[in-house]
Order: sequence, then C-alpha cells, then structure tokens
Amino acid sequence: MSIAITDIGELVTNDPAVGDGLGVIRDAAVVIDGDRIAWTGPSADAPAADEAFDAAGRAVLPGFVDSHAHLVFAGERAEEFAARMSGQKYAAGGIRTTVARTRAASDDELRATVRRLVGEMARQGTTTVECKSGYGLTVEQEERAVRIAAEFADEVTYLGAHVVPSEYGDDTAGYTRLVSTDMLAACAPHARWVDVFCERGAFDADQAREVLQAGVKAGLGARVHANQLTEGPAVRLAVELDAASADHCTFLSDADVDALASSQTVATLLPGVEFSTRQPYPDARRLLDAGATVALASDCNPGSCYSSSMAFCIAVAVRDMRMTPAEAVWSATAGGARALRRTDVGRLAPGARADVHVLDAPSHIHLAYRPGVPQTAAVWRAGVQVR
Ligand code: NIG
Ligand code: FE
Repeated sequence: MSIAITDIGELVTNDPAVGDGLGVIRDAAVVIDGDRIAWTGPSADAPAADEAFDAAGRAVLPGFVDSHAHLVFAGERAEEFAARMSGQKYAAGGIRTTVARTRAASDDELRATVRRLVGEMARQGTTTVECKSGYGLTVEQEERAVRIAAEFADEVTYLGAHVVPSEYGDDTAGYTRLVSTDMLAACAPHARWVDVFCERGAFDADQAREVLQAGVKAGLGARVHANQLTEGPAVRLAVELDAASADHCTFLSDADVDALASSQTVATLLPGVEFSTRQPYPDARRLLDAGATVALASDCNPGSCYSSSMAFCIAVAVRDMRMTPAEAVWSATAGGARALRRTDVGRLAPGARADVHVLDAPSHIHLAYRPGVPQTAAVWRAGVQVR
C-alpha cells in the first residue's frame, strides 16, 4: 500500500543530493510504498498513491535515531536524582542499585518496561532505538537482557562491562575476563554491538580494550562510554579500535578532538545526562569546528538521565552546546544513523526506510524554539503509522 504525504511546508531529507545540511525541500511531498520511501520532491509533481495525508504546511523530518539508551531495567532512582539536585555528585556506583532491582525482576516486568519506553519514544518521533544491556552483570542476566532488548529495539548492545558487580569486590580483572569470554558467548548471538563504560570507577583502558577486542572477534561492532566524568583514554581507545561511536565526550583534550575529527568514530553527545547530573555540557561547537561527526542521543536510563525526549536533547544542544538548530536536528537523525553505521534510516530519500515524523510546527527550528512543548503530529515507522 502507498501513502502520499502532501502539502509539506518544509521537508528535511538529510539527502546530500538535495543540498547541504538538512537537504530541505519546500512545498514538498513524500510517497511511502510498503516499508520504504518511494519518492520525495515538490508537491506539484507527486505521483498518485493509494492514500493521502495532508501535512497542511507543517514540517516533516526523518524519524529520530536514538543511538544510545539503556531500557532493560527495573525500578527507578528518583531519590538519587533529588539528592543530586541538592548537591550530591553523580557516580557510577548508582548503577548497582538498578542491578539489584533488575536481577529480581521477572522477564515480563522487564519486557513491559522496554515496551513502554520504546512506545513513549515512538510517540515523540523516535523510530530507531539502540538498547543496551548492563543491569544484569551475570551470564544469565546479561543474556536475558540482550534477548529482551532484541524483541523491541532495532539495535542491541551488549554492555556486560557497565560496572563491576559487587560480588566481584575488587576483582575487576576477573570480571573483565568473564565479560570477554562466557558472558560474551551467551550475549553475542542477540547483539550487534559491544560497549564498555571506560571510566575511573568502572573499567580502565586495558580492561576496556580486552572487552572490545573480544567482542569484535565475536563479530560485534564496538562503541564506548567515553570521557563522561573525567578526561581519560577512552575516546582515543574508541578511535584506535574504529568504534562506531564514542558516547558522552564531556571532558575532551585537544588530542581527543583531533582523534575524533580524523576518524570514522562519531562523537555521540547526550545532553540529557549533563542536565540531569548537573555536569558541564559537552562542547559540540568545538567538535563540529574540528570536523568531527556529532550525534545526539537520549541515554534514557533510570540513573543519569530518565528522559526519552530527543526534542529535549535538541533544545539543550542548541541553547547550551552551541549547535545551530539545523546541526542539532541533523545530529538527532542522520548523526544517530552514522553512529549506528546505518544508511537506511535518518534520511528521507527513495529506498530509505519509511520513518517519517510530521511536526506540529512549520519548521525544524521549532524543536529548539519551543522547548518542552509536544510537537509530534504523526509518525510512521517502516511505513506503519505509530502515531
Ligand atoms: O550512560 N555512564 C554509564 N552508564 C549510564 C548511566 C547508568 C546509570 O546511572 O544507571 C550512562 O550515563
Ligand atoms: Fe549510557
């Protein structure tokens, strides 16, 4: 079945063939055929379709690509957030609170949470979601997490190396070995990516390298939680291993920025985390000016940022990270696709997956200009209307 979305005031294609940056077409139409985009162009030239949707002059974007989220968990940490807002610092140790709750939850409880959050995301225009494990931290629990993530998410990441679980005490080396061997073997069949939290209080560079290299050997792509709390070796490790993405990038040296700029590794910025942990925001401008590719993602998780809103990330990135609205929208769509090494999402051009986000606004700028206001009018994911 085909659908023509007509009378689009501003169509963001992210198609370099259309033009620089967002590849905007004005007075445009999009034709969806099955799960793919069949046609984009001026409204007046649109081919006939089985059904029509009148965009009434509003803006249409590719669905958001949220390339970083932790959705397989139980419980919440609202009290920890409240304590932070009265001055307590965010520390990796809070993860263990969620590990205890997650281990005690049934499969169906975890499923219900992932389903709820993926649905919440879809209603806000997010059509591609990456979902990590990392709150199980035993072979069985991590296998369960990636298996459940795979039921709902487009992209699944094995994050056995999130923190060292308390039963391992100081034996980080022993836990790293487990993550790189038996746990990896159990999780790899359900995952596409391997990730490590490389940070003081979590895993050092050698341990992170061990995990990532084992994952790559098992056929997974690498991604890294890098330089979130301190400047350290993680970003350069990500580049050295050709990781698809170095995520957070909050504390960067000039060498880190140069390394990212001369690599295929995307700098994925997670502004909701700095908002919710009261940390300084990463400097997107510095990365963009150096020539690095920047993605924006939510990092939706119960600890450092319990928001699934990509529109919120865009607003903060524009207000506080010196991105233009166009750069922020690109980073939340095409940038996320780059961070996942996907070419079928994050753009609207013939052949792309039909992930279409109709805004209740005349231009993409309104996402940053009207912070906190719901502006999603309609969403198709792979040609199916989900809102
Ligand atoms: O990306 N930094 C490590 N992991 C998550 C936080 C997880 C948590 O606090 O529960 C993050 O911020
Ligand atoms: Fe994260």
